[in-house]
Order: sequence, then structure tokens, then C-alpha cells
Amino acid sequence: MRISFKWTAIAVVAVIQSCAAQTYTECNPLEETCDPNDGLATYRFSTNFTTGDSAFDGWTTTSGTVTSTDLGALFTINEQGDAPTIETKFYIFFGYIEARFRAASGTGIVSTAILESDDLDEIDWEQVSTFDNQIQTNYFGKGNTTSYDRAITVSVSSPEETFHTYSISWTESATQWFVDGTLVRTLNYADAVGGKNYPQTPMRVRIGIWAGGDPSNSPGTIEWAGGETDYTQGPFSMYLESVRIVNYNPAEEYTYTDRTGSYTSISASNATSEDETEGEGQSSSIPVIPTTTRVAPSSSVTVSVTVTPSVCPTSSAVPTPSYTPVYGLGVSVRGSAAGMSSILGIVAIVIAGKVLF
Ligand SMILES: *[C@@H]1O[C@H](CO)[C@@H](O)[C@H](O)[C@H]1NC(C)=O
Ligand SMILES: *[C@@H]1O[C@H](CO)[C@@H](O)[C@H](O)[C@H]1NC(C)=O
Ligand SMILES: *[C@@H]1O[C@H](CO)[C@@H](O)[C@H](O)[C@H]1NC(C)=O
Repeated sequence: MRISFKWTAIAVVAVIQSCAAQTYTECNPLEETCDPNDGLATYRFSTNFTTGDSAFDGWTTTSGTVTSTDLGALFTINEQGDAPTIETKFYIFFGYIEARFRAASGTGIVSTAILESDDLDEIDWEQVSTFDNQIQTNYFGKGNTTSYDRAITVSVSSPEETFHTYSISWTESATQWFVDGTLVRTLNYADAVGGKNYPQTPMRVRIGIWAGGDPSNSPGTIEWAGGETDYTQGPFSMYLESVRIVNYNPAEEYTYTDRTGSYTSISASNATSEDETEGEGQSSSIPVIPTTTRVAPSSSVTVSVTVTPSVCPTSSAVPTPSYTPVYGLGVSVRGSAAGMSSILGIVAIVIAGKVLF
């Protein structure tokens, strides 16, 4: 059986739905004219969620309640319908993200860390708690769900008892998934239907848990989640210690200039090469950055950054890459990440699951 799992954001006013088999985006730029995406205008953004409430600067809690504890951000499912989730207020346009977390246990509980764009490009980590020795990698391009061979499960030891560092390196040529610094999967641009299904538009980071085994879910979802969730066994909790993000194309805004969904169609306004502010509880080290080239800046300014990695990223010792902006606008963007307005307004954002055969 091939099953893939699709996370989508559903904007619904004051309605909490669990795991509807629907695909939503607040505004799909391939179908209509949307506001630009707020960008992370700095090169790096990191959060250590053990540092208290200020750790959530730069993040929006889109469902439920998420609090800072000594072990990190606590996501708990106490009862049916709970699906605590946070997401970045900003988008990144190619980059590196690293989330260190301990997944929740409990049959059917799914802990996820994903990247998702407005046109439904997506790159996923999904830990299904029923299987305490593995985690799934997955991706989607432009919300295309017509092929179901994208999910690949990789081994990891006791992800529900121990913290592991799950990373994604995302460039215009390849996406790589790492567990504790070890490469476990590579997806090349060309391998995703010649690039057509390759995730390539500005993404937000979204992290949370939900009950794939909720009795109201489709039988396929429940099967994928390893069985029905028994809420009397709860509460079920995931701890997110830290997140580190590198944005390879820091900019204040990203605009889809046409409806192709191609990365070459994305215009980055006020692109900057400056490496300025970091989030709360920073680590001063920077993860390894694959060689990459900035793409599609606005105003016919060509920005190219070459960074040269030497080893895989780890959460402890990471080298500083060489970082050579070829051109830059030199625009000061200090503090812009924390000051961004919520893109989502006051609507409730519900995370929905979808299982496809
Ligand atoms: C987060 O902060 C705690 C407390 O200062 C520290 O022990 C831990 O190593 C930090 N985690 C990361 C990933 O920097
Ligand atoms: C969706 O993906 C399938 C293969 O996974 C591909 O054959 C099809 O052309 C894609 N559809 C679109 C609209 O890109
Ligand atoms: C770009 O920077 C200029 C000058 O700092 C500012 O006036 C403008 O509002 C910025 N544009 C965007 C889209 O952020």
C-alpha cells in the first residue's frame, strides 16, 4: 500500500475541523492574485524554545496552545480535536531548516515539521507515533497529489523518547533530509517530474502534532497512522527544543510574478545579503550551507551568494561557510522578522490531514 500524507492549512472562521480530506491555501497565487509573502529578511533565524514566552517571537500559534518549558515548546493533545501548531510569521526562499524535537507517543499521533508554500509546495518530516523507530520524509509540488510514491520512511532510534535533530536542505537543484546530521534522502529537481513537482516557492515552517488516528478520520488515514487513537491514554506530548533556519534569499517580500509556480517567477523585494538579527536563545554557529545561487531578485538586481559547505550539519559543531555576496542592495532590514504582521489575520487555522492511495 502506498500512502502519502498531505498537510494543508485551512482558513476557517471559528471552526475547528480535524483532518478534513481537503486541500486549502489562504490564497493560491497560481489561481488568483495574492498579496506578497512576508520574507525573512535576515539570513538566519533561530529559536531555542526553552527560553520562555519570548521564544515565540517570529512564530504564530495557529491552533491550540503551545508553551515554553525546560524541555522546549510543549505541544499536547489532551482530547479529540486538539492539534497544537505553530508556524513562522515569515517565508523563506530556499534554505536550511533544522528542528530538534522529541515526538509524541500514543497510537495514531503524528508529530510533524514541514515547509509549505501558498501554492502548496511542501517538504515534510512526519513521525507517526505508532512506529517508534522511524520517521517519514515526503514532498509535494503545487499541491499535486496524483502520485503516491513520494513518502519515504527512514529509521531513527526511539524518536518518542529521545530528541533528534531533523533537517532539510532545500535549494533549487535538490532537497535533502538529514537525521542528526546524517543524510537520509536526496530529491533532485529533475527527479520530481522534471522539476514540475519540485518544491520551489517561498515556504513557511510549520510544526505541530495532530491525531491521524482520530476515529472520525477516514479508514485510510487511521491505517496510515497505525490505528485509532485512544484519548484516554493521553495526554500525548511533543517537545520542540529548537529550530534553526537559514534563508538563502533573504528579502522583505516575495511575489509570484506569474502563475507558473516556477522559482524563476518569484521576485524578491528588498533582497539583502546582510546577516543581522537572530531570534531568541540563539546559537552563534551557522549550519552548513550547500552551494547555492540566489534567484530572481526584483528590480533587475542580480544577487548571487556562494557558500561552500564542508561537512553535514550537526547541532553541535558546525563550521562557518564562506559567504560571498556578488551583488547586494545593502538595504537595512534589522528587526523585520519579529515585526511582521500576521499574514493570517484572526481566522483560525486548522491543520488538516489527507491520505491518498
Ligand atoms: C537551548 O537552551 C538550553 C538552556 O540554555 C540549552 O541547554 C540548550 O543546549 C539550548 N539548545 C540549543 C539547541 O541551542
Ligand atoms: C502530477 O504528478 C504526476 C506524477 O507524479 C504527473 O504525471 C502529472 O503531470 C502532474 N500533474 C501536474 C498538473 O503537474
Ligand atoms: C524596501 O526598502 C525601502 C527603503 O528602506 C522601503 O521604503 C520600502 O518600504 C521597502 N519595501 C518593501 C516591500 O519592504
